[in-house]
Amino acid sequence: MGIFSFSRNIGIDMGTSRTRLYVPYRGVVFDEPSIVALEKKEVVCIGGAAKEMMERANPRTEAREIVICGAIQDEGMVEQYLRKVFKQSNGIFTFIRRDALVGVSTGATSMQQRSAIQTCRRAGMRHVFTEENAILAALGVGMHKDELHGRMVADIGAGLTETAVISLGGASSSSTVRVGGNDMDRSIVSYVERQHQLLISEGTARRMKEQIGSAMQLVSPKELKVKGGDARTKLPRVVRITSNDIADAIQKEVGMILDAVASVFQSTPPELTSDIIDRGLILTGGVAKLHGLDTEISKHINVPVQIADEPEHAVIRGIGRSMQSGHLNFHKWVIRSK
Ligand SMILES: Nc1ncnc2c1ncn2[C@@H]1O[C@H](COP(=O)(O)OP(=O)(O)OP(=O)(O)O)[C@@H](O)[C@H]1O
Ligand SMILES: [Mg+2]
Repeated sequence: MGIFSFSRNIGIDMGTSRTRLYVPYRGVVFDEPSIVALEKKEVVCIGGAAKEMMERANPRTEAREIVICGAIQDEGMVEQYLRKVFKQSNGIFTFIRRDALVGVSTGATSMQQRSAIQTCRRAGMRHVFTEENAILAALGVGMHKDELHGRMVADIGAGLTETAVISLGGASSSSTVRVGGNDMDRSIVSYVERQHQLLISEGTARRMKEQIGSAMQLVSPKELKVKGGDARTKLPRVVRITSNDIADAIQKEVGMILDAVASVFQSTPPELTSDIIDRGLILTGGVAKLHGLDTEISKHINVPVQIADEPEHAVIRGIGRSMQSGHLNFHKWVIRSK
């Protein structure tokens, strides 16, 4: 048995919107917002409970996002978050110190990797390994490690669009662009204010995007009534928003995603492009579910596009599969305890 023994380890995907934890034989034991609530600078609660507090806007509590655009903001805060996660998911972190496999953004600098490793170690992990999200997403959609050749994956989450062409188990060309679902939410808020003089929250914008959003104009758009405050009088008012309004509002973000994917394809060596054209691009991450995004990407790069099942879970599933396979050499970083 290697030092990365399956039963003793734990997998962590610290995303911009949600943090997910995988434990062998138990599966995903935690999947909650990457948010802490602070009172007098002390973390009082995390995840879903912290988000509720944030929405109630209690003046004594301050809510903070711990991951912004895929990067840890405050190591101390993330350490406290993880300690509370382990406590909450009782039984996973009792007597033994576990090894961890942590997803990092594709092309993360060594400083970002070190920050993830050190934070996990301070939270009580023993050996910490990291792997790039795009590789983990590819494993998470069911590709075997030996099949990770001539494949293309784009993981589009709340803060990042990570695209990679994978060859011989590693990323041969990749890009990470700071654009994702959160930027779309902000653009929808501005659009609704500009076009309808209505003030709405980013949470309302997110729900609209998820329910009726579209990456392209539709002949039969869906419609939703949205409540907000009138920009001038601040009194409540209701407006109708359609899928086509959302498509207009998020045009810039969709364009940036298309450019990000195209640029990775353009820098792919010719010996891999025909494999990718045959097998297509796989979309993972929550934004993969945005209506019409697959069609727009496919039209833009002229390659078939497939959406993964439960795309937002691809990375944590990949972490689970990767841990099960026990291929230690597959992962890049090891920092041993003294
Ligand atoms: N049906 C949907 N249509 C459009 N967007 C959606 C849909 N469902 C979820 N999303 C968006 O997906 C994003 C969350 O995706 P995911 O969980 O992959 O992000 P993350 O891993 O937390 O972030 P990142 O990987 O960027 O750090 C949110 O912005 C959410 O609004
Ligand atoms: Mg993610």
